[in-house]
Amino acid sequence: MMLSQQHVGILGTGSCLPENVVTNSDLEKMVDTSDEWIVTRTGIRERRIAVAGQNTSDLAYGAAREACERSGTDPRELDLIIVATVIPDMPFPSTACLIQHRLGATRAAAMDIEAACSGFIYGLSIGYHFVVAGTYRRVLVVGAEVLSRITDFTDRNTCVLLGDGAGAAVLGPVEDGRGILAIKLGADGSRADMLKQPAGGSRLPASVETVQARQHFIVMNGREVFKFAVKTIDTAVREVLDECGLTPQDMSLLVPHQANLRIMEAAAGRLGLAMDRIAVNIDRYGNMSAASIPVALHEASRDGRLKPGDLVVLVAFGGGLTWGSVAMRW
Ligand code: ACO
Repeated sequence: MMLSQQHVGILGTGSCLPENVVTNSDLEKMVDTSDEWIVTRTGIRERRIAVAGQNTSDLAYGAAREACERSGTDPRELDLIIVATVIPDMPFPSTACLIQHRLGATRAAAMDIEAACSGFIYGLSIGYHFVVAGTYRRVLVVGAEVLSRITDFTDRNTCVLLGDGAGAAVLGPVEDGRGILAIKLGADGSRADMLKQPAGGSRLPASVETVQARQHFIVMNGREVFKFAVKTIDTAVREVLDECGLTPQDMSLLVPHQANLRIMEAAAGRLGLAMDRIAVNIDRYGNMSAASIPVALHEASRDGRLKPGDLVVLVAFGGGLTWGSVAMRW
């Protein structure tokens, strides 16, 4: 959809990463892998892993606090809190409710959403529409994951890829010439089996058997996800820019979901972009699912990579399958 009426944009961002660093050589001691394989096949050198007792809501709260501070928002001004996650503190109540209480955001409605690695983009879209409609003025969107709790550290196909972290953004009205220009979301449930955590829901409730069969861990078809990701970044970026009458060459920065450096390089090639126009932090954090994009966006903003008026595109793909893209003027 092409969006124009009220101008709505990101007022401030934040992030929170566990301090505990796990390097590729640490993983060499756990599974049959090597630093050389992980770096050349994925671009990942290290990732952050939460320590015992450090939960999704703790990381979400840290990122949310910083986003509120940087946007000059008193948490009591927040109207809505959305947390995108595949690993909430518990199935219910929502992690959004837990951080609403910790932030003292007493006026805010709160909910979790789940769109796997696309969750932050889906959350931005929901928040955007509440502000554009005039229903709310300040919406906090958080992507937060402690993927290590559902990672099989005996499976070299997945455990080398994933990391823990959280990123957040506060959305609100902005002046002319700034803000979100267009949003595209998509899903293809026929490919739900490509990336999933099989047990723990209504289909396969937790039991001794599901635990013994290791069905509470993430499983994926890496090669198929890779092909889907490269195509999806290309089409989702072009579609969202087309709606604004813009082209990839107009972008100052592309912030893609961080799943594999080779996915980003292949997508950059298809879009005709040099890598210096792509935000990359996968080397330090691995794939943090819904947290990857807000953390990368926050670091780009904090490090002065974004200037007012820059055209920034966020693009995500992930389990569901789902995808989404957002074009905005910074
Ligand atoms: N160390 C060493 N060898 C490995 C490792 C490892 N960590 N992992 C796989 N291999 C082996 C495989 O077993 C295979 O060996 P074989 O040929 O003897 O069978 C070989 O390396 C090559 O495997 P491929 O799957 O062809 O490797 P590929 O180059 O495709 O890279 C990867 C695999 C990194 C998984 C890639 O396909 C990828 O990044 N896919 C996308 C993943 C993704 O985005 N997932 C999202 C999950 S996030 C989430 O759900 C929250």
